[in-house]
Amino acid sequence: MKLTTKLLAASAIVSATTVGATELEVTHWWTSGGEAAAVAELAKAFDASGDKWIDGAIAGSGGTARPIMISRITGGDPMGATQFNHGQQALELVEAGLMLDLTDVAEANNWKDVIFPSSLLDACTIDGRIYCAPVNIHSPEWLWLSNKVYEDLGLPVPTNWNEFVASADAVRAAGKVPLALGNQPWQSNLAFGAMQVAVAGLDNWKAVNMDKNMDVAAGAEYAAVFKAAADARALAVGSNVQDWNQATNLVITDQAAGQIMGDWAQGEFQVAGEVAGTDYTCLPGLGLNAYLSTGGDAFYFPKLDDADKEAAQKRLAALLVAPETQVAFNLKKGSLPIRGDVDLSAANDCMKKGLELLAAGNVMPSGDMLWTPDTQKQVEDLMVEFWMTDLAPEVAHERWVDIISNN
Ligand code: GAL
Repeated sequence: MKLTTKLLAASAIVSATTVGATELEVTHWWTSGGEAAAVAELAKAFDASGDKWIDGAIAGSGGTARPIMISRITGGDPMGATQFNHGQQALELVEAGLMLDLTDVAEANNWKDVIFPSSLLDACTIDGRIYCAPVNIHSPEWLWLSNKVYEDLGLPVPTNWNEFVASADAVRAAGKVPLALGNQPWQSNLAFGAMQVAVAGLDNWKAVNMDKNMDVAAGAEYAAVFKAAADARALAVGSNVQDWNQATNLVITDQAAGQIMGDWAQGEFQVAGEVAGTDYTCLPGLGLNAYLSTGGDAFYFPKLDDADKEAAQKRLAALLVAPETQVAFNLKKGSLPIRGDVDLSAANDCMKKGLELLAAGNVMPSGDMLWTPDTQKQVEDLMVEFWMTDLAPEVAHERWVDIISNN
């Protein structure tokens, strides 16, 4: 066969595969080391399936990225798929008829039977139709500790928040920052949320967050939460970083003793080559009340008015929920999979703690599912003021009750 014929044959094969490959632009806010390693697994899987992932990473937190995503969808410049958190963030987009119905994909792949907990699929379901593919379970209620800071102090690694606070003076005296906290609204809000369950306990957390019981919200147990938040505020002095992963890096490099952060912090420890249990310790529920809220991420698909693109969107939705993708992505992301029928023997000690809590049913819905984005934004604004100033815990407590009373 002449060379030209071979080249023509080869180019025909290439063009055939590229013709079959549909490109989808996928937006997300996963730009830290661990997050990028994880989202690369999704892109790799989509490309290997014969389509093409065009990465649309948006730097900054979800609070920066979501307005951009929403304005592109409502402004007639939609992407192929986008990340949102489980909950109500895309509700108005769905109600405006801008998002693709995935119910046929869900039924063809038995999502109702395989996705666990079912609250994740419930959060994607509006008027009986399914509009998102859940990809992970993330829980914010973790305390991450540098083992080396405590070894160097000759102190035992704390086993809970109270022991952590008690160790702060010794940590400070050694020139370290007790609590690493990035200077973004959602991070102080996350810390506050984690302390609610840890300090007030699950029953009081449910009374306020699920039953909207304002008497409990205004009561002594929540006064203790705000007192603990004031303690944490003092422990965070000296953090002086912006992004959450910069705060995690302070713990990884043993400049800070601990950080309250979601289990996505695991991705950073992993990229840094640190070993759970050896180099760092993770305490779900801050070691006091080991319950995890089942927040996390899902992908939504704007309508594109293009049959080929829509077919590729549905292929991607199915792929994101598939067992192999779930293992490859969540092991890198530090999150838990959205299905129980996957082999996670490669999970590290911290992920195993999360899986055990999930299996034991020690879980609760995430704030993203319980409060409107508007209420969450007002609470975030209050938390920024509280953590950045010397606003008295009693005053912050009163203002918090006012905000959530009008959810
Ligand atoms: C959360 C998201 C996580 C993590 C975190 C920090 O909203 O669910 O996947 O990336 O933001 O960016």
